[in-house]
Amino acid sequence: MKKLAVLLWFAVPVLVFGQDKDKFINDLMRKMTLEEKIGQLNLVTGGEATTGSAVSTDVEKKIRSGQVGGIFSLSGPAKVRRAQELAMQSRLKIPLLFGMDVIHGYRTVFPVPLGLAASWDMNLIERSAAIAAEEATADGIAWTFSPMVDICRDPRWGRIAESSGEDPYLGAKIGAAMVRGYQGDGSFKENSTMMACVKHFALYGASEGGRDYNTTDMSRIRMYNEYLPPYKAAIDAGAGSVMASFNEIDGIPATANRWLLTDLLRKEWGFKGLTVSDYTGVNEMIAHGLGDLQAVSAKAIRAGTDMDMVGEGYLNTLGKSVKEGKVTVAEIDAACRRVLAAKYDLGLFKDPFKYCSEERAASRIYTEKTRAFAREAAAKSFVLLKNKNRVLPLKPNQKVAVIGPLVNNKENMGGTWAVSEDRNNSVTLLEGLRNGPAKAEIFTARGANIYSDPQMDANAALFGKTTGRDSRSDREMLDEAVAVARKADVIVAALGESAEMTGEASSRTQINIPDNQVELLKALVATGKPVVLVLFTGRPLTLTWENDNVDALLNIWFAGSEAGNAVADVLYGKVNPSGKLPVTFPRNEGQIPLYYAMKNTGRPHSGNPGFEKFRSNYLDAPNTPLYPFGYGLSYTTFRYSAPVTDRAVITAKEPVTVTVNVSNTGDYDGEEIVQLYIRDVEGSVTRPVKELKDFKKVFIRKGETVKVSFTLDVSDLSYYYSDLKLQAEKGIYEIMTGPDSAETEMVKLELR
Ligand code: BGC
Repeated sequence: MKKLAVLLWFAVPVLVFGQDKDKFINDLMRKMTLEEKIGQLNLVTGGEATTGSAVSTDVEKKIRSGQVGGIFSLSGPAKVRRAQELAMQSRLKIPLLFGMDVIHGYRTVFPVPLGLAASWDMNLIERSAAIAAEEATADGIAWTFSPMVDICRDPRWGRIAESSGEDPYLGAKIGAAMVRGYQGDGSFKENSTMMACVKHFALYGASEGGRDYNTTDMSRIRMYNEYLPPYKAAIDAGAGSVMASFNEIDGIPATANRWLLTDLLRKEWGFKGLTVSDYTGVNEMIAHGLGDLQAVSAKAIRAGTDMDMVGEGYLNTLGKSVKEGKVTVAEIDAACRRVLAAKYDLGLFKDPFKYCSEERAASRIYTEKTRAFAREAAAKSFVLLKNKNRVLPLKPNQKVAVIGPLVNNKENMGGTWAVSEDRNNSVTLLEGLRNGPAKAEIFTARGANIYSDPQMDANAALFGKTTGRDSRSDREMLDEAVAVARKADVIVAALGESAEMTGEASSRTQINIPDNQVELLKALVATGKPVVLVLFTGRPLTLTWENDNVDALLNIWFAGSEAGNAVADVLYGKVNPSGKLPVTFPRNEGQIPLYYAMKNTGRPHSGNPGFEKFRSNYLDAPNTPLYPFGYGLSYTTFRYSAPVTDRAVITAKEPVTVTVNVSNTGDYDGEEIVQLYIRDVEGSVTRPVKELKDFKKVFIRKGETVKVSFTLDVSDLSYYYSDLKLQAEKGIYEIMTGPDSAETEMVKLELR
């Protein structure tokens, strides 16, 4: 009874609020002309960062005449206020919605999403989104085009840097954490929260050949089990909007795919929010071969794409399509209602200037607090891939030679999609080491350009960033670097990709460190001094030679505003690295796609070294990766016990606890990410050999042992069958625990 009273107490204000909203929107829509409704569906760009050839024109005039629903890539309270004032001069004074690609931080830049994912730290990731929202909203933004939750198993695709990697379970957790961070409790009462946009719906990370914007083709069962879970999790976490992807699915581009945007998203998943096309995604369907602008615009709105980003296909053709009976007013009403609802939920009708506060802009952006967080997040994203003879951490009295094209390169610290960063703020590696605790003697040289070929260097430097090319010859730079290196006790080689070698339209067929940089590395190794490779990258790279020949390898991804300080923290042992790979690093490109959750085939390789004829493997390389998913070292060492379950049988009513003891057997306190995988060995469909189902990040003091427990229930064992029903099948499951996806120990469990 008491419970019922509590329920009613909550339900009443919600109902009243819901009625208010419906009534408000109904009243408003009764006053709107068809043109004004279509105007609400038009999303234009303010031009601060553009990724397509088309840009918006005559924006001021269009706003005044009610032909614009929202603007993205326009920031700063003054500019946003000015645009909103224009909207207040339109007939119905409907406020504009201001969006932006706030992807991994706003002015204070955090590691690229793939790097953040390597922290496996959901609180940290949620906080990163909350801080990004606090900064962006202070600068006028109410809507971010994030999180990007596309699963990617092909590191040739440059946008893997914007993703959380290859795994649906980890990706789902991260997607939900980001939504919570951006949207807070989802009430948008505070002007420090903003609406999230889950993208790119769907399967964008599965483009053929890893070539951006390319076709995808996939079975439904794979979609449901492996690619859709992160979108669903982000939507279940309350994301207010969804962006359609550029690629096609079952032969129909996502933007016009009714099965995707209406049947799956709205009917099956119950999504109530706003959908938006990607940048000129509507118009691009002309190139896909789906008809002229009027035809593709009609297809998009009828499929369920509410807003048209930049292309103005809706603005210019929907009126005509209604007259000709190709689109109904009801279809336009439905889309318009959802745009208005988003504005209502954000509180923009109450106060169109809610996000325009000069005071907040001056006090909340790029502060001591946000920078301290960026430094912490960066250090937690680093993955130690090798540390022979404990060359790391460095000793304060060692003379260090820091060498490479990115050693002192402010433009390339933030990584891709850091459109709101102030590049001058970035702390470079050299600056970080000079601020370092040791005040060690530091020598430096550039050693190489990113690429030897100037054209390749130019390709690797989009979005107004440069690689800071040096005009000297490769030989001159290399000779200078070797001479500098000889003066030091230890060499820190900072090599890899420039910021824009990953990100949109940055696919590569060869994912190595460019050859000229490897030549430099070879010369540094030949000096006989210990070499620490500090790797800049937004994707898995092929590092076989590097792994065999350098002493230590620290992958720092693109670490953001505080990159240099964080690198110094880790190199000097102030922070013990704890990141683990959210994606597999292959040995060579021919192995791609390579991911841990593979199927077994009927003729699996035995796992022993060497080629096996008539088994599923290659003549010229093993099946195993160079570094598996979940892998990462620490300055300390951990020992795992075998997993133990508290019962041998799991049922719908009785969950099982799996326990593993983890001991810190080394010389440093440290954090460890303990992972749990499962395998169904008696399925009616084939299942991956391993699937991540839980993980815990634990701090363990040196010499201590902690008991790590996981609770598994039937839902953890369930998956989508051929009929696309989610079920758990009775039978035997293997439960595996360990420090990464390759090194696990197993216990069996029966589901009855
Ligand atoms: C990208 C999106 C982005 C949009 C707006 C597109 O090219 O694919 O991820 O949100 O541009 O900048």
